[in-house]
Amino acid sequence: MTTNQSRIAWGAVALLSLGVAGYAWHYLLPGAFAPPGIKENPRAYPWLFVHAGLAGTAMALGPFQFLPRLRLTRPRLHRWIGRTYVFACLTGGSAGLLLATGSTAGPIARVGFGALAVTWLAVTSMAWRMALARRFDEHRRWMIRSFALTFAAVTLRLYLPIGAVLGFQFLDAYRAIAWLCWVPNLLAAELYLARRPFRAPQPAGA
Ligand code: HEM
Repeated sequence: MTTNQSRIAWGAVALLSLGVAGYAWHYLLPGAFAPPGIKENPRAYPWLFVHAGLAGTAMALGPFQFLPRLRLTRPRLHRWIGRTYVFACLTGGSAGLLLATGSTAGPIARVGFGALAVTWLAVTSMAWRMALARRFDEHRRWMIRSFALTFAAVTLRLYLPIGAVLGFQFLDAYRAIAWLCWVPNLLAAELYLARRPFRAPQPAGA
């Protein structure tokens, strides 16, 4: 990818992420709109609001952590955004796991969202551990996986209208998308990482 193509790709990802984060935060306003079945989820009060607020924060912050300039020129800011991102993923993901157990879309959706939540919590925790251990190449690789999962919130909202245009019933599409919104994202992250070999930390002075 040329530098220009990477900039365009980053801009598109950031724009979609900020758009979906803004949509998520609208739940914090009175009288928020929700798609069918969401407010009927028995765990919705208060977990939908905790989830939308915090997972939305992770979504809005994630893209900025991949800007090499910010990492190199403002390392303290990178660390503070990173801590907030990890906190938002772990709390927003735990609320997502609780919501998953109550999804009114049935067991396929419950297990799909539940597996996404558990994977998101595990992958983000690994990324955090690697940063604390100063294993920065591994940290970067786990963060790429983590953000690929955060981005499920965008892919879900892109696939729902596509499902409707293709003529699928809302519930059938929703159940399939509970899996399709994240499994291909994770595979794409793995393919990307496979083409970039892992760089083991160099001993000091090497
Ligand atoms: C990546 C892990 C995530 C998991 C496991 C997850 C899980 C869930 C679940 C189970 C629901 C309720 C669905 C239902 O009752 O059928 C939900 C709703 C919602 N989630 Fe997430 N979510 C995740 C990420 C995100 C992110 C990053 C955002 C932020 C942009 C987000 C924003 C929302 C919103 C706004 C809703 C309400 C439904 C709607 O208006 O579309 N989620 N999530």
